[in-house]
Amino acid sequence: MIVLGIETSCDDTAAALYRPGRQEPFSEIVSRQYQIHDPYGGVVPELASRSHLEALPHITEELLKKENLKLSDVDLIAATAGPGLAGALIVGLSFAKSLALAAKKPFVAVNHIEAHMFAATAAEKVEYPFLALVISGGHTLLAHVKSPEDYAIIGRTRDDAAGEALDKGAKILGFPMPGGVNLAKAAERGQRGTADGRRFPRSYLKPSYDFSFSGVKTALLYHVERTKPGSPEAIDNIAADYVEAIMDVLVKKTLLAARELGLETIVVGGGVSANSRLRELFNLRGRARGKQMRVVFPPFPLCTDNARMIAARGLQTYQDKGPSKLDADVFSTFIN
Ligand code: KG4
Ligand code: ZN
Repeated sequence: MIVLGIETSCDDTAAALYRPGRQEPFSEIVSRQYQIHDPYGGVVPELASRSHLEALPHITEELLKKENLKLSDVDLIAATAGPGLAGALIVGLSFAKSLALAAKKPFVAVNHIEAHMFAATAAEKVEYPFLALVISGGHTLLAHVKSPEDYAIIGRTRDDAAGEALDKGAKILGFPMPGGVNLAKAAERGQRGTADGRRFPRSYLKPSYDFSFSGVKTALLYHVERTKPGSPEAIDNIAADYVEAIMDVLVKKTLLAARELGLETIVVGGGVSANSRLRELFNLRGRARGKQMRVVFPPFPLCTDNARMIAARGLQTYQDKGPSKLDADVFSTFIN
C-alpha cells in the first residue's frame, strides 16, 4: 500500500509517501514559509494560500521522483480538510482531489487534529485505551482515546493554545519566526529561577481538565515592560521560566487526568511535543504508584505540521470508513 499525504493547513506545504511495513515507511518534502510571513509578524492567510499553490506541484513531483514512483503507483491520496486556514486548506484539498481524479485512485479527507493525536502511533505500537495530549499552535486538548475511531475530548484550552502562548511570548521577547522554536532554544540556553526571571503564574482550573494560557502570557508582558531586560542572557533566562510555566501545567494536568481515568499510557502530539523540557518533565514525573507511566512522543518529523501524519491517519480513516466523497469540504474549526 502506498499512500500520498498532502498538508496545507497553515504555513507549511508538505507532501509525504507512507508505505507501512517498510523499515523506513515515510518519505517527505516540506516547504516552509517562515521568511514570507516574518516581516508581518504572523501568518498572512492569503500569502500562505499562494505559496501552497506554487509549491505543491513541485514538491509532489520531486517526492515521487526521489522515490522512483509514478502517480499511478500510489494507492490512496490523503489531504488535510481542517481545521486550519480555509484558503490554505482549499489549495491542498483541491490539489489532492485533482490527483485522485487524474490517477483514478481513492481520495480521503483527513482531520488535522486527529492526525496529530495518532501521529506517534504510526511510528510505535501503542495499546488502547490511552490519554492523548494534543498541543499545537491552534489547539490544546486532552482526549480519552478508546480506539482509532472512538475518542472523547475531556479538556481543552479556554483561551490561547500552548503553542500560541509560546509564539506570542516569543514576540514579546523579540524573537523572529518561527517564534516558539526560537523561544524554546533560548529557554534551553537560559537558567530557570533566576533573579530577573520571576516565577510565572500557573492556571490549573481545577477540577476541570481545561487549560488557560492567557494569564501567563500577560504576566510575561508586564514583567518585560517592568524589568526591560537588555542582555541576551537576561532574555534567555526569562524564556526559560516562561517555557517552564507552560510545560509545568501541561505535564501536571495530563498526569493527573491519566491517574484519575486509570490510563497508563499517554500519547503526545502536535508541534509543542517537540519540546525538550516537556519530554524531560514527563520522564521525571511520570511515575505512579512506583510504576513508570508510558509516555509516547512522536519522532521529531511527526511533531510539527507534516504530511506523514496525514498519510498515516488517511490510511486509518480509509480502512475504517472508506474513501471520502470528491465534494468533501474544508473546515476551519475543530468540532467533536
Ligand atoms: O502542530 P504545529 O506545527 O501546527 C499547528 O497545528 O498549529 O504546531 C505549531 C506550534 C507552534 O506554536 C510552535 O511554537 C510550537 O508548535 N513548537 C514548539 C517547538 N516546535 C514547535 N514549541 C515548543 N518547543 C518546540 N521545540
Ligand atoms: Zn498542526
